[in-house]
Amino acid sequence: MSTIEQTIKKLRQEIEEHNYRYYVLNKPDIEDIDFDALMHKLELLEQEYPEFQDPSSPTQRVGSDRSERFVSVAHVYPMLSLSNSYNYDDVRVFWNRLTEAFPEKAPSVHCELKFDGLSISVIYIDGVLHQAVTRGDGLVGDDVTQNIRTIRSIPLRLKASNPPHRVEVRGEVILPFAEFERLNGRRIEAGEEPFANPRNAASGTLKLLDPNIVSQRKLDCYFYHLYSDASLPEGHYERLELCKSWGLKVSTHNRLVSSLEEVYSYLEYWDTARKELPCATDGIVLKLNSVREQEFLGTTNKSPRWAIAYKYQPERARTLLKGVSFQVGRTGVIVPVAELEPILLSGTVVRRATLHNADFITSLDLREGDYVFVEKGGEIIPKIVSVDRDTRVELAPRIAFPDRCPDCGAPLENKEGEVAFYCTNSLECPMQIKGRLEHFCTRKAADINIGSETIAVLYDKGWVRRVEDFYMLTDLQLMQLDGFKERATQKLLLSIEQSKRRPYAAMLFALGIRLVGETVAKTLTKHFPSIDLLQAASQEELTAIGDIGTKIAQSIVSFFADSRNIETVKALRSFGISLAEEEQGQETSSLLLEGNSIVISGTFQYHSREEYASIIERLGGKRLSSISSKTTFILAGTEMGPSKREKALSLGIPLLSEEEFLAKIGKLDD
Ligand code: IVH
Repeated sequence: MSTIEQTIKKLRQEIEEHNYRYYVLNKPDIEDIDFDALMHKLELLEQEYPEFQDPSSPTQRVGSDRSERFVSVAHVYPMLSLSNSYNYDDVRVFWNRLTEAFPEKAPSVHCELKFDGLSISVIYIDGVLHQAVTRGDGLVGDDVTQNIRTIRSIPLRLKASNPPHRVEVRGEVILPFAEFERLNGRRIEAGEEPFANPRNAASGTLKLLDPNIVSQRKLDCYFYHLYSDASLPEGHYERLELCKSWGLKVSTHNRLVSSLEEVYSYLEYWDTARKELPCATDGIVLKLNSVREQEFLGTTNKSPRWAIAYKYQPERARTLLKGVSFQVGRTGVIVPVAELEPILLSGTVVRRATLHNADFITSLDLREGDYVFVEKGGEIIPKIVSVDRDTRVELAPRIAFPDRCPDCGAPLENKEGEVAFYCTNSLECPMQIKGRLEHFCTRKAADINIGSETIAVLYDKGWVRRVEDFYMLTDLQLMQLDGFKERATQKLLLSIEQSKRRPYAAMLFALGIRLVGETVAKTLTKHFPSIDLLQAASQEELTAIGDIGTKIAQSIVSFFADSRNIETVKALRSFGISLAEEEQGQETSSLLLEGNSIVISGTFQYHSREEYASIIERLGGKRLSSISSKTTFILAGTEMGPSKREKALSLGIPLLSEEEFLAKIGKLDD
């Protein structure tokens, strides 16, 4: 090895060690300025000697620009969730289940904090970070490797001299409170919608397409589970200790206990102490420590029987109601919103809370100047639970519900059987129109990448008033908008163009027919494979389908009775949107191998045969034990027997190497 190469390697090790001390141990032993100097030195050396570039160098944490969407990846081990418990009785039932299953001795249970972020699976091959995948639907997730690489506490290389060939660690990506507040402060300044809580912020950040932005938001990650092809210690606690020794961040608050009393005192202690933690937690996880015993108990298809999550009661706070504003939704529904004196609740600042409808205001008997109690559970939305009657000002006036639309001034109506009030000016009320346009663009609908501010500008200019108008926008128009240079313009036009290929169900949902949500839209497209058929359907034909009630059917019929909606459908068609089921759906990602009969033969590098069998099964394929004319292909490892090879050849059955197979299911870049 040349001296330059040696210097570079030493420098990388030194920097990674400082990163580890800083991000994992929280015990830096170098000043920031000196650390920056080391990084700078390494950057210069790598520029000068590009032959020594290495993707796991600390300089490579910020990835390159990527424009494509994330690739779907099947999990080798499904990412399960946990069954929840909310009181000590549930915990006792869990404990008793364990003692009944293993009566010989008291169970050894690992108590962990339940971090409130999003789960991630990180795979290391020969000690080098190889791939990171989000939970997704538990079976198939998004490849977010480039973004995960920017998280400083996640090592790019394990600190192990002889790591197992394949290591998969599961953990929770979180955004600490301090970072969350900083990020939201900046968003509010820039006129953007703040994130509701650190979990949403972490999840939104990890799904950004630009790793450079991700790296500016200081995400962190705690690991809580280890899988590997090597033999591992029997205990979960010992496995996490192994993770620690490899440089992975594991919470220092984990405890191993062997009595129910100890579990209770852990729960009690953290009920208060968690409020001092730098990041959000929403409970405690209890896990049976012995992996052998875990395997004996097994899992349901949703969660393991050997673990349970204990969720804390939501926190409650008292604050002043500064006023009530009334918002107009895309359907014209008027939603009252309480404007609150900002208050810290479960680590996030609450400024507003929904009051749902007029009945809710009446049931609270809400008055101007009231102090209210606000609660927030693990869930996102804070709610007002009651009014502090003791501090109410005498004769304070009731909160009045308006009788006209706060945006366009049209009269409101109360539809039969509903508590909500609606603005009657559905065609011209600006808030309703903008709401419909926004809905059209959302990800599960037409998926046009545009913010609500831009939509408002396009509306104000009169360029987009109906959804079909998006398809007539030109670059000359967009270039006139503030902040729209060449790149932003081309990006938006491309996104609009791509929306033309959205599936029929998504476009039907995008049309915003009242009561037709994502699921109803999917049901409808199955029974009426084109919009013409749906348009021609009578109320009776619609209700004949299970899941479609009278109200939905009425709403669909009245949508198509309006000539303006027919014009929209026609216009969308003229822009090339099919509004009909295509021959081949796009949603095959989770059943990539459906209809395939596969024989596994030979030995493999990345996964064991059993792992491949389970991957195949999960992706809808069938594993056969011997080669026949029915075999679709053979997953052929090294050392496949010659007689099998010959048989495959004679029957003309293709052999896929391990790499080819992984590429086919989206687990390897091609
Ligand atoms: S164990 C099979 N441990 O909670 C075991 N999960 O509701 C599954 N979480 O999806 C997870 N902290 O995102 C486990 N210490 C911890 C955790 C934890 C947070 C999250 C994780 C999981 C969800 C389950």
